[in-house]
Amino acid sequence: MKLYEGSKILVTGALGQIGTDLTEALRKKYGQNNVIATDIRTIENHPSVSDGIFQNLDIMETQKLIEICRNNDIGIIYHLAALLSAVGEKNPEKCRKINIDGTISILEAARLCSLRVFAPSSIAVFGPDCPSHASQSSPLNPTTVYGQTKVIGEKLAREYWEIHGVDTRGIRYPGLISYKSPPGGGTTDYAVEIFHSAINHGQYEFFVEPNTRLPMLYMDDAIRATLSLMDSPSESLGIFRSGFNVSGITFTAQELASKIEERIEGFKYSFVPDHRQKIADSWPDSIDDSISRKEWKWSPQFDLDSIIDAMFEGIENT
Ligand SMILES: NC(=O)c1ccc[n+]([C@@H]2O[C@H](COP(=O)([O-])OP(=O)(O)OC[C@H]3O[C@@H](n4cnc5c(N)ncnc54)[C@H](O)[C@@H]3O)[C@@H](O)[C@H]2O)c1
Repeated sequence: MKLYEGSKILVTGALGQIGTDLTEALRKKYGQNNVIATDIRTIENHPSVSDGIFQNLDIMETQKLIEICRNNDIGIIYHLAALLSAVGEKNPEKCRKINIDGTISILEAARLCSLRVFAPSSIAVFGPDCPSHASQSSPLNPTTVYGQTKVIGEKLAREYWEIHGVDTRGIRYPGLISYKSPPGGGTTDYAVEIFHSAINHGQYEFFVEPNTRLPMLYMDDAIRATLSLMDSPSESLGIFRSGFNVSGITFTAQELASKIEERIEGFKYSFVPDHRQKIADSWPDSIDDSISRKEWKWSPQFDLDSIIDAMFEGIENT
């Protein structure tokens, strides 16, 4: 398939945790009027996204999506609309619908309009049979519905690439830490919530146990990874193009609490695990990202101390 070189970019789920930062980064890189932000929600209370073009769009409406792409000279879709792990487990049918049928809707629009697609995956593709340090080709047997939708999403993306030539790329994001937009109901949300609660209220109640260790990444690294993968020449990417492992840092809930305690005098925290503990326990502790480092020269820049510095600065100045 000959790829259509449309000049503009469409972002789905642009009002979410990643969309807020990614839309801003794309506008900075490609120009304010070349990025169309879309979401099923309305734009109120999202000052950074509302600085440019925004349209309401439910990704299930394939025809409307195609019209927006054709009418606006779209060349790439960054597809971020989804239901995350904790919310998805509470509503598995809706999770399957949005994450699988919604992804098919995007891939169909991309096939018909000859677009390129970025569609993120997640470390949730791994399950209890994965080694604690997950390699790129570790087994994909997740116990969560969310994880299953992400495995299917990777397969669909590969199929559209191999059969229809739709250039679809993805990253298995770990838990993402950022301050501009609240997390959307995932199992790693505690690594964001703790900063807001500690700075504003001097206390935090974790919903996981102290020894829970999960892979995490600072949002600036995630955005850099995303843009860098999409800039890479297609021929440098091998068979894992729809779900690259990417690693940043890994820490336990206790380690994070202790670091924050060093900064906030009298900081009080407790651990009251809920249903999300089981999800966290089914995921690996750390990620081997050697294929990404080799194929598209990925490397993270933020360690735990620099993430904490950036989160304190970001929250205290907004
Ligand atoms: N944030 C993380 O830590 C993380 C980790 C791994 C993978 N991911 C993946 O990254 C992507 C984006 O995640 P996020 O954290 O920004 O999620 P989020 O929940 O913060 O945002 C998702 C956005 O999608 C929108 N949306 C939901 N249903 C929609 C529909 N039918 N049509 C249009 N928009 C709809 C929501 O309104 C929301 O603004 C998802 O695919 C997610 O699985 C995120």
